[in-house]
Amino acid sequence: MKKLKIMVIFGGKSGEHDVSLMSSASVMKTMNKEKYEIMPIGITKDGRWKKYLGNVEYIDPKNWLNETEDYNINELFLDKDSRGIDLVFPVLHGPFGEDGTIQGLLEMADIPYVGTGVLSSALAMDKVVAKMMLKSVNIPQAEFAVVFRSDFIKDESKVLDELENKFGYPMFVKPANLGSSVGISKAKNREGLIAAIKEAGSFDRKIVVEEFIDGREIECSVLGNENPKTSLPAEVVPAQEFYNYEDKYIDGKSELIVPAKLEENMINSVRELAVEVYKLYDCRGLSRVDFFLERNTNRLLVNEVNTMPGFTSISMYPKMWEATGLAYGDLIDQLIELALDFAKNK
Ligand SMILES: Nc1ncnc2c1ncn2[C@@H]1O[C@H](COP(=O)(O)OP(=O)(O)O)[C@@H](O)[C@H]1O
Ligand SMILES: [Mg+2]
Repeated sequence: MKKLKIMVIFGGKSGEHDVSLMSSASVMKTMNKEKYEIMPIGITKDGRWKKYLGNVEYIDPKNWLNETEDYNINELFLDKDSRGIDLVFPVLHGPFGEDGTIQGLLEMADIPYVGTGVLSSALAMDKVVAKMMLKSVNIPQAEFAVVFRSDFIKDESKVLDELENKFGYPMFVKPANLGSSVGISKAKNREGLIAAIKEAGSFDRKIVVEEFIDGREIECSVLGNENPKTSLPAEVVPAQEFYNYEDKYIDGKSELIVPAKLEENMINSVRELAVEVYKLYDCRGLSRVDFFLERNTNRLLVNEVNTMPGFTSISMYPKMWEATGLAYGDLIDQLIELALDFAKNK
């Protein structure tokens, strides 16, 4: 059988560059080499594309660039037989990877790719648009407000007063377009709110402020195109005050409970709502839908959708599938099949 030639793209211009190295190394390590021929491409933090010649099972964040040669992205636009790839697996998180931009490039080049398309990637990445979509069909979520950095700079106290009147403390402050908790803070008083807005504003001109939800953090993996299936949900119990970057990737002291201990009908509600949001966002391939289960009210609120969730073998997305009976390697196979199916039936 002819091997399928797959370009795995890692790195990228986002703050989640290093996370992507871990995710893609895991993917490449596991991909069945009898079935697939891998072309690893790394995107540097400043956006250059490089053909990676080093060990695909561990990509060293400091040194991977030393083991590369130039890659000319014009090659993507050659005809099917000359470009030497059948499919792209962009294992990229955050802006320029999970936000529709690379998906647009691959659409232009007419190359099948793993994961969700331009629109759904873009709208899930932008926390403001993502929340407005949920609001439009009354899916429960935290109350939110949008703050433009320029308005804050123009009239700081007006913005602060408005937020304080709307929510009271604590509040969550986030850059609209980022991930992995980068730039997110919990503001407990006015001083904290000012610092939080400045911090979020250093990453994005658009900032989301949310009411604080005292809830359990529940996640659910979704996989598929037209008829997506869901995993058993899992729970994250953050080790620190909230599930922040250090907790996610550095000291990893948060507790991951897979599958989550929930009542049967709550499990069903999570899975149903995950599919509802997946369809609302027009996702395909995969996404991880994250929720809050509010402690006092037992209300299930949607937090966000990650269209290219962390993808190491010990990340939540694959772990939830494993708990549901789908092994990591089979999951990768299915994602590749879904991408080819989609391209065939477009
Ligand atoms: N409104 C909120 N109330 C309570 N905790 C929150 C709220 N929003 C975010 N958090 C905490 O911050 C973490 C990161 O926020 P999230 O919106 O998921 O951003 P990211 O896209 O960076 O993962 C969440 O996992 C949760 O621990
Ligand atoms: Mg999150």
